[in-house]
Amino acid sequence: MSDAPSWGAILENFTRNAAHFNRVGPPFYSIFAERLLDLLDPPVGAQGLDVCCGTGAVTLPLARRLGPSGRVIGIDLTPAMLERAVADAQRAGITTVEFREGDAMRLDLPIASFDVVTCGFGIQFMPDPRSAVAQWSTFVKPGGQLGCSTWGEGGFEPLMSLAGEVLAEQGIVVDPWHERATAKPDNLTGYARSAGLSDVECRLENHIVHFANPADAVHGTPRGRSVLNAVPAERREVVRDELIRRLNAQAGTDGLDLEMRVLYLTGRLPA
Ligand SMILES: C[S@@+](CC[C@H](N)C(=O)[O-])C[C@H]1O[C@@H](n2cnc3c(N)ncnc32)[C@H](O)[C@@H]1O
Repeated sequence: MSDAPSWGAILENFTRNAAHFNRVGPPFYSIFAERLLDLLDPPVGAQGLDVCCGTGAVTLPLARRLGPSGRVIGIDLTPAMLERAVADAQRAGITTVEFREGDAMRLDLPIASFDVVTCGFGIQFMPDPRSAVAQWSTFVKPGGQLGCSTWGEGGFEPLMSLAGEVLAEQGIVVDPWHERATAKPDNLTGYARSAGLSDVECRLENHIVHFANPADAVHGTPRGRSVLNAVPAERREVVRDELIRRLNAQAGTDGLDLEMRVLYLTGRLPA
């Protein structure tokens, strides 16, 4: 059974957050995008496809790496995220990208036509991630690569420990946080191997991300927003203020270090 949110919930969430996405606190999605691209190291002039492209955190640096002879298509279901991606590409003078609205599970593209297919922090939203990896792999040319990043299990400390304390003291019972199937490296490597990819690797990397303003760890991270969304609306402000007070108490004079666990899945279609 799927553990992903519904299409409507995804659209509502990213429409609401589009203006702030990757802009509150450090731009960690961009940091993780560069890491994914370092691991893939795509050749200049290659053809790229970036699914669940959002505001272009992977798409735009991928286009830069591929150079003027490369091309990248970015696809996402949320128009508000794509509007930002288009504006950022124009502002950066990147003309080798094309953004399209669409469903990552129903891509209307020629098969075996991309040297590199990427998905940054999108696989956890797929209703059937195994089938998503299988479909995305069909768009990879023989010898080309697929690379996906997603959240690993746990992490977001000390935010989550403090959130647990505050919620318990306030007598607020929330559904236990469950990790998606995609948070397990073995699941991801299994999806990639069953899609026919070789040289499959799934690296778990703990990134220490510095937040100059500790409150941004609550408002600017998906886990921080999930905590607030789990609290009844009338108690949200109290919980938020107390959580920020405790984060500030743990922070150093220059801010707070948050541990983020990221999985990087890479594989190659045999030539
Ligand atoms: C966490 S954001 C990541 C965006 C970007 N790849 C990055 O690394 O910053 C996830 C994105 O996936 C998109 N998304 C989720 N499910 C999708 C689907 N079925 N088809 C296309 N896009 C989807 C959302 O609209 C959102 O923009």
